[in-house]
Amino acid sequence: MSTDKVSVHGGWASRWVFILAATGSAVGLGSIWKFPYMVGVYGGGAFVLVFLACIALIGVPVMLAETLIGRRARQSPANALKALALEAGHSGKWSWGAFAGMITALLILSFYSVVGGWSLDYIIDMGRGDFQGVAADQVGAYFGGVIADPWRLTLWHTIFMLLSAVVIAKGVVAGLERSLRIMMPLLFVMMVILLGYSLTTGHFMEGVHFMFDFHPDKLLDGLLPAMGHAFFSLSVGVGSIMIYGAYMPKNSSISGTIVGVALLDTFVSLLAGLALFPIVFAAGLNPSEGPGLMFVSLPFAFGNVAFGQLMGVVFFILVAIAAWSSAISLLEPMVAYLVERTKIRRGWVTFWLAFTCWFVGLGTVFSFNIWQQAKFFVNDGAGFHLYQWGAASGLDFFGVIDFFTSRIMLPLGGLCFVVFAGWVMGRDAVRDELSIRSPFLFALTLFLMRYVAPIGILVVFAAQLWK
Ligand code: PFF
Repeated sequence: MSTDKVSVHGGWASRWVFILAATGSAVGLGSIWKFPYMVGVYGGGAFVLVFLACIALIGVPVMLAETLIGRRARQSPANALKALALEAGHSGKWSWGAFAGMITALLILSFYSVVGGWSLDYIIDMGRGDFQGVAADQVGAYFGGVIADPWRLTLWHTIFMLLSAVVIAKGVVAGLERSLRIMMPLLFVMMVILLGYSLTTGHFMEGVHFMFDFHPDKLLDGLLPAMGHAFFSLSVGVGSIMIYGAYMPKNSSISGTIVGVALLDTFVSLLAGLALFPIVFAAGLNPSEGPGLMFVSLPFAFGNVAFGQLMGVVFFILVAIAAWSSAISLLEPMVAYLVERTKIRRGWVTFWLAFTCWFVGLGTVFSFNIWQQAKFFVNDGAGFHLYQWGAASGLDFFGVIDFFTSRIMLPLGGLCFVVFAGWVMGRDAVRDELSIRSPFLFALTLFLMRYVAPIGILVVFAAQLWK
């Protein structure tokens, strides 16, 4: 059985460490920063509902597929697909899908690091007491000032990228466990405290209604964004969970573990939304504010409660750590691949990849200031332009990378992995890895991987095209 193999990059000491690492990867800016602002932009309940459905019917099967592919092959994603495809008598070209995924991970990291940098910046600002007693509009102006300064953003982007690269250079297995063991539970406690605060705002039910009232007319608009975000949030579709699966001990149950990680991640997203929106409404902020939502609503809350300054510092430290543990998982697949394929040392590979991501990330930094007017894919009354300076519509650089990765590449990567596990690897290999005892549950899992998830992804794409 191929699960006896070990990866050349090391392995987690136990299933528990895999759970920590996978949760560390999944729970990050996606849950705390991106989910709430997307719920705001796409109008609340309909988005949340589609998101939850996509997590359960598509995200979890893809996550299972990735983990079992990784653990069976014990190699980086591209090499894993190649090895398993050849083993099963199929074309080695399957590895191209994983390769595209690994590139996508690096593109995500380029902007992820910029936003991770915002949280680092806010640790200092909070600690300095910049938000003590502020009014809601002042927080908005403060955030506007932060992102208007390209030097400031570049500094924090650089620091964040360096912090992530250091762990990867040392090797994920050695670097991650100790910090996550303490930080993940603490993050959870902080979220609950914030929720407690939002209960006192007098606008809690408004937040609940916003998140869960279903408006069918908004369903179609949020369909592809919600599916894309389900992938983003679970860290699937690019090979991150696959490489973590490659370090998973044999004989530990995959299915229970993965369902647990997915539940935890979803729970943190919902918690973040429930904590944030009541504050947004109480402060009279705009829920469809966009990427700044968390960075204007939470400082307002922290600025206006007892011990808020301290709690704010702790909170943004935890957000930065959650982001950092996700960033690591974005870098690891390509690093592992290059270590396997070349003779270059892990440290150098990490340095050059992190540098490249950092460089691309400057485009995101500038999207919020000096390149704010640079718009791509402009579609106005005068027709379609690939690029136009100063157009009223279109996407900025950050928007393009986000759109391309979350809406297109993550679902396509997920499709590739789930079809691979469901159809290429063969039923026995899947059964062997999943070790699900109940025949019914195994049949259900295979059904989800073979039919529900792939068809679901294609249906969402089709619905978007014909909308
Ligand atoms: N899941 C992470 C988050 O929600 O913040 C982001 C992420 C990590 C996306 C790893 C994709 C990935 F492969």
